[in-house]
Amino acid sequence: MTGIVIAIDGPAGTGKSTVSREVARRLGLAYFDTGATYRVATLTCLREGVDLTATSDVAAMVATMNVELVLDPRNPHVMLDGEDVSQLIRTDTVALSVSKVATNLEARPILQQMQRDVIAGETEGGFSGGKGVCAEGRDVTTAIAPDATVRVLLTADEDVRVARRAGEGADAATVREAVLGRDKQDSTVVSFHEAADGVVTVDTTHLTIDEAVQAILDLAAERS
Ligand code: DC
Repeated sequence: MTGIVIAIDGPAGTGKSTVSREVARRLGLAYFDTGATYRVATLTCLREGVDLTATSDVAAMVATMNVELVLDPRNPHVMLDGEDVSQLIRTDTVALSVSKVATNLEARPILQQMQRDVIAGETEGGFSGGKGVCAEGRDVTTAIAPDATVRVLLTADEDVRVARRAGEGADAATVREAVLGRDKQDSTVVSFHEAADGVVTVDTTHLTIDEAVQAILDLAAERS
């Protein structure tokens, strides 16, 4: 293994995606949003009429879907059967159903293995040419990349997390329900509120995006 792996997890509203993308951009790494794999899996099931509560049917769909991830931090996107679905995987329809796939214990290991393969590929070649990858998502510091060069848990006070998401649109009550409700649902299969051994917690409650990015760049400089 040659390239570096920066793994960032944490709940919604901690700045995870923005910070991870910026870290990747500054270091010339690939940017891998692991959540996108759950989202595209959900989209494909919805499109193909697969009942999201039919555990094995969902897993079978996930195992055969034709997905390509473009890991450019300046313009990350997701292709499904050659179609750019980057916007479609962000719609409410997908957001409201994605936990059903993320908590599907037959589909989840398939997506987790896909994620490990993507990360390994970036340490040898891929988009980054072997420089490595900044990967984000609920379990990347633990289940996906426990040997990552840098492992960070981003946290922030609950009210701040809700306020940040509310700042992106929608009304406060809906946002509170979306942020806290989904975290609660996802917590049934992944623990992402407590840092595992060797994982550094960066509390972004009082940090700007730039400060959070800098904290991670400092850790990367220390360790590589
Ligand atoms: O980060 P996001 O909102 O795009 O994540 C989409 C869903 O997938 C959400 O329910 C959390 C879940 N997820 C997960 O369980 N593990 C990951 N590594 C990434 C996302």
